[in-house]
Amino acid sequence: MNDSNRRLHGTWSSRWTFILAATGSAVGLGNIWKFPYIAGENGGGAFVLIYLVCILLVGVPVMMAEVMLGRKGGMSPINTMRHLAEEAGGHRAWSAVGWVGMVVGVLILSYYSVIAGWALHYIGEMAGGALQGASGRDSAMRFAGLLADPKRLMALHTVFILLTMGVVIGGVTHGLGVAVRTMMPLLFLLLVVLLLYGADSGNFAAGLDFMFSFRFDGLTWKGVLEALGHAFFSLSLGMGAIMAYGAYMPEDAPIGKSVVTIAFFDTLVALMMGLAIFSMVFAVPGLAPDAGPSLMFQTLPVVFGNMSGGLLFGVLFFMLVALAAWSSSISLIEPGVAWLIETHRFNRITANLLLGGIAWVLGIGTVLSFNLWQDYTLGDSTFFDVLDFLTASILLPLTGMFIAIFAGWVMRKEVATAALGDRAPRLLALWYWLLRYVAPVAIGGIFLFGLYSKLI
Ligand code: PHE
Repeated sequence: MNDSNRRLHGTWSSRWTFILAATGSAVGLGNIWKFPYIAGENGGGAFVLIYLVCILLVGVPVMMAEVMLGRKGGMSPINTMRHLAEEAGGHRAWSAVGWVGMVVGVLILSYYSVIAGWALHYIGEMAGGALQGASGRDSAMRFAGLLADPKRLMALHTVFILLTMGVVIGGVTHGLGVAVRTMMPLLFLLLVVLLLYGADSGNFAAGLDFMFSFRFDGLTWKGVLEALGHAFFSLSLGMGAIMAYGAYMPEDAPIGKSVVTIAFFDTLVALMMGLAIFSMVFAVPGLAPDAGPSLMFQTLPVVFGNMSGGLLFGVLFFMLVALAAWSSSISLIEPGVAWLIETHRFNRITANLLLGGIAWVLGIGTVLSFNLWQDYTLGDSTFFDVLDFLTASILLPLTGMFIAIFAGWVMRKEVATAALGDRAPRLLALWYWLLRYVAPVAIGGIFLFGLYSKLI
């Protein structure tokens, strides 16, 4: 990063702050809320296996590429891609990767914030004791009541967007950097406390069986596409978040090691949450593993409501969800904010107001898709379902594929590998091979099959 950009945006204060920020971006609703429910919808174990393969063979190499491109380009993803393409003798149109990423970030934020708002709501529900002694039915009805109330959903969505903008306005060093250094230790502490609590509360054996016995009958090509898409979503890949964060990274820190750490934590949290949630689902009569997006919000309150001390842990749990969502949502608008500042001389406040405002307006569509608009569907998908599928299953893997192609085929090999800052030659060769061949072919193949099976 050159000095003027360093001054424009600021930098992480150390390699660890980068790791915390990227882990904060990666660990979010994707791990706690989405992973368990899509694994549940796709038959459990087999989906988990495919997901892990996608993380290892595609997610990790593409993440290394994104951080590398970000650090080498040193600017917002749009300008980084344009600059690196020019340097490598490629076409300016490569900046489209950054453009699509910026748009996808705002699209994801628009629904992410609505769901994060549910978590905020449940902090209050738990604290107020409304779910004390609740049955599976009571909890399902309360959740349905929340979804049927657009005004309340809008209020929660608004609060969450404001929280997100509040941090991003503070800038990289003092806003995002300070936020992640405070939030992440708290998040891990909460996670450990909750796991200890959950370990003896549920039907752990049934949870383990559901997550790790690889029965392939529940899995379809559409499920495989979702697993791939979710690997991108969960690692925050394919939309420039990690590229933007890479630009604020110290010049000499080795990228491979950092990325493996981040991917490890991200996967660990997803698996732990899956185990915890399914152990509890199987312990409560009347709850099904394939309940979809409502899984976490219906099942966990029942468990918390029926155990001694449960309400306190319920409050802590939903605080954990909200924190995890918050440290992710800030990375959804940072790439666009950085670009507006660099190219259009916005200041951080106006850039945030503009992008946060767009996400807020779009979020209205998601809010209404759970109530007034729930019958306006495409096939049987609501506005929210379409937005989620379009961003997570289509646009993220597709942009991720172009990132792999750019780093693997357009940039010169020596430049790309030198920019990683890692030394082990075998690992570098493995990375390059995965990036050049495995990632694009796997993404392209899964993509075509998945789309085909979704459409027929
Ligand atoms: N990785 C985040 C999660 O799992 C979501 C996210 C996607 C954040 C893309 C930033 C960019 O919840």
